[in-house]
Amino acid sequence: SVKKVGVLIGSLRKGSFSRRVANAAIALAPESLSFTIIELGGLSFFNQDLEATPPADWVSFRDAVKACDAILFVTPEYNRSIPGVLKNAVDVGSRPYGQGVLIGKPAAVISTSIGAVGGFGSNHHLRQCLSFLNMPTLGQPEMYLGNSAQLVDEEGEVTSEGTRDYLTNFGKAFATWVHKPWG
Ligand code: FNR
Repeated sequence: SVKKVGVLIGSLRKGSFSRRVANAAIALAPESLSFTIIELGGLSFFNQDLEATPPADWVSFRDAVKACDAILFVTPEYNRSIPGVLKNAVDVGSRPYGQGVLIGKPAAVISTSIGAVGGFGSNHHLRQCLSFLNMPTLGQPEMYLGNSAQLVDEEGEVTSEGTRDYLTNFGKAFATWVHKPWG
């Protein structure tokens, strides 16, 4: 069966290297996964005062997440953590308390960086949130993608065979993960 994966990208900029990596990961994934990028740019800041009357953008974000079997996070690292835009999405998707649409969904994390460390801090700060939300998150292969500016060209082509193989192996492992009988 084909499982639906929602993709959350932690960068809003047009030329985002994380978005390029996300598109490459999608293109190289097995056919047993289908992907939808859920856009985060229009998501209002989480505010507990609004929980009783959620803004329309929260409702459509939550509906989009609810329609997915799994979530793929692709994020840069800001100040050794995740960008606020992604944390906001996690917070919106985590509420109402105990009923958040993210709770329990299988997930994977790809972190990116223009530097060599590959967003390790971002990757693991995000995993702290996902652990609390009871989201079973793929452990291997670890995806800390450094030198993100060079990985995928403007046409969306992965520039090295090694990176292509790595993303392909990740896609296979994630598909196996998502098809486990979670929940
Ligand atoms: C960064 N960048 C960055 N890189 C990194 O490896 N570790 C870090 O802690 C940070 N911190 C950081 C903070 C802020 C506010 C910005 C704007 C940038 C650099 C980052 O890797 C680079 O800007 C990427 O290009 C961002 O990802 P996208 O937008 O290309 O997907």
